[in-house]
Amino acid sequence: MGDDLEKILVTEEQIRVRNRELAAEIDADYAGRDLLLVGVLKGAVMVMADLARELRHPCAMDWMAVSSYGAGTTSSGVVRILKDLDTDIKDRNVLVVEDVIDSGLTLSWLVGNLRSRGPASVEICTMVRKELALEVDLNVRYIGFDLPNEFIVGYGLDYAEKYRNLPFIGTLAPHVYGS
Ligand code: IMP
Ligand code: MG
Repeated sequence: MGDDLEKILVTEEQIRVRNRELAAEIDADYAGRDLLLVGVLKGAVMVMADLARELRHPCAMDWMAVSSYGAGTTSSGVVRILKDLDTDIKDRNVLVVEDVIDSGLTLSWLVGNLRSRGPASVEICTMVRKELALEVDLNVRYIGFDLPNEFIVGYGLDYAEKYRNLPFIGTLAPHVYGS
């Protein structure tokens, strides 16, 4: 993938350290309470796997898949459920685990949808929050990294389904979008 990449914004080691810190916060906040992690496919696969293994708190995991945009790089605001939860979340403490909050449109829709199911609580954990997300009224409890508003790939994040398996987060060279 060498010359497709422009620069690395967050290294593998920085991600590892941050996951450990976030997990410690979550362990403390949910002590003595039930916890259900809800990962948003496919981008959150990496952070779910790493964060969950850093948690000492016992937790269940479930997954949702939603689509907000296809192969492009801007959000349409139109959200569709591609895969719903297997779990009834009534009276559960739900922690939504996300890779990135960009416009925040997808997540504010998702949180509204989850709240309508009567959970005890719904909180959000995201590995990356972009500047733009600050404009949307979303209460994000756990944030890995605040990054500028650039399109990023790696650690679950894709461009047209590529680059998800990079162990770090970076930006793509302009020629990749140009093709
Ligand atoms: P939002 O609705 O704009 O907050 O973003 C919705 C989804 O778009 C995210 O959950 C990601 O799957 C994807 N996305 C947003 N920004 C990026 C990016 O920089 N790289 C890769 N995917 C992104
Ligand atoms: Mg996502």
